[in-house]
Amino acid sequence: MHENRKSDLEVIVLAAGKGTRMCSRRPKVLHSVCGRSMVERVARAVAGISTIDPVNTPARIVFVVGYCAEEVEAEISRLKSLEEFQGIELLTVLQSEQKGTGHAVQVAMPQLGKEARRVLILPGDVPLLCSKTLSLLFASAPRPLSVMSCEHPEPLGFGRILRNTSGEPYGIVEHRDASEAERQILEINSGIYLAEKEFLSQALSNLESNNAQGELYLTDIVSFAAREHLPVEVVLAPSHIELSGANSIAELSELEEIQRKRIIENHMNAGVTFVSPNQVVVDEGVKIGADTLIGLNSRLLGDTVIGAGVLIEGDGLIVDSTVADGARLLLGCYIEASQIDSGCVIGPYAHLRPGTRLESGVKIGNFVETKKSLLRRGSKVNHLSYIGDAEVGEDANVGAGTITCNYDGLKKSRTIIGAKAFIGSNTSLVAPVEVGPGAIVGAGSVVTKNVPENALAVTRAEQRNISGWALQRKRK
Ligand code: UD1
Ligand code: MG
Repeated sequence: MHENRKSDLEVIVLAAGKGTRMCSRRPKVLHSVCGRSMVERVARAVAGISTIDPVNTPARIVFVVGYCAEEVEAEISRLKSLEEFQGIELLTVLQSEQKGTGHAVQVAMPQLGKEARRVLILPGDVPLLCSKTLSLLFASAPRPLSVMSCEHPEPLGFGRILRNTSGEPYGIVEHRDASEAERQILEINSGIYLAEKEFLSQALSNLESNNAQGELYLTDIVSFAAREHLPVEVVLAPSHIELSGANSIAELSELEEIQRKRIIENHMNAGVTFVSPNQVVVDEGVKIGADTLIGLNSRLLGDTVIGAGVLIEGDGLIVDSTVADGARLLLGCYIEASQIDSGCVIGPYAHLRPGTRLESGVKIGNFVETKKSLLRRGSKVNHLSYIGDAEVGEDANVGAGTITCNYDGLKKSRTIIGAKAFIGSNTSLVAPVEVGPGAIVGAGSVVTKNVPENALAVTRAEQRNISGWALQRKRK
């Protein structure tokens, strides 16, 4: 990023609307596509301009917030910490009443810096927009106003670009305000504009709300320019999909479908095999190494990194976790915020909860739950166990049905199992407790005291055999 040269380009993202057509309490721009909110996606497209076209690195993005402002503000402050936004100032401004897109930009104008000469304006609800398309706006000679458009096969609902007989644009008409003839126009307004700041201020002060919605329409800056005989450039985007806003849940799911396919295709091109690509969900930003095989009904979500040569059998969910090269995740694993080193074998049907760390070669078998625990190299918990707030030493073996009793009803306590220790089946380890290295715990024990290194601990009552007792009962 160009720290030494302050760019004259600043950005306004419109994100104050409720999104009535979503029929949801959540503000529209926080609905997500493949794991990223719409507003994050738009902001990333803006930030990405700098890698394609460093001269046009945006210095600042002003987000106009309104409906559920606090939630949208929280999302923006989360974005501030991401690497992609370093060097770009992100700020929000409140539009307390949503009086239209033009009004939203009026509210944002005073937040722009003194250095700003050009303003890029985008709606917050165009999630598939990419930086490359945005950069097309900067390709031609500077004008007071450029608008991005495209031919849309289903233009219903969009504003339409009006051109005179010589093809010059002279205005935009909203679908609701359009005549039957105007509704036949296929060229739609994307809602993305690049304007000179001075022109924009002037155009905004001339907006009026004499339209179907009684709002201040940003689109009217085009007819203002035409009236003032100022050149307006209409930049055609290569694909309508990128400009398709999501105004309803159904539209959103169509965009999600498109993006999901793209993500999986990219992984396939990088050497990842999907047993059934249409039945897998991979969030944006998930990393997967080559020669990894991903089975049916796998969901890889959030901040997840999968290594090379990993097997993920399917029917599982992995979120915010790291899985190193060569690990094998058998059917039905649910893995949250965990770290799995190389060569581990997990499942079928295991639940790794947040804070689980498996060193290399660990084996977690079926119906095992782990939480906030470190399992050292080569240790095994093969069947039906709960390991919480624990440390399991190298090559230790934890028998079937072992439970770390980590919670006494008031507080959580830790269990430590030493290297090469052997915990017999159906043992309860009442924390805080420590089993020393090499120690053995007899099956069925309830361990409440520390077990010294290499000792045997047995806590169950001795067995009595009463000869013939069973036979006598049957006779009765
Ligand atoms: C808008 C355009 C339309 C264009 C379409 C492209 C206008 C009048 N219409 O219509 O020409 O084809 O986008 O997607 O501009 N917003 C605010 N404050 C407000 C109103 C809206 O911040 O007072 C925000 C919304 O949160 C949204 C964006 O502006 O992110 C666009 O608003 P929306 O209601 O989706 O406009 P469209 O009807 O899609
Ligand atoms: Mg819209």
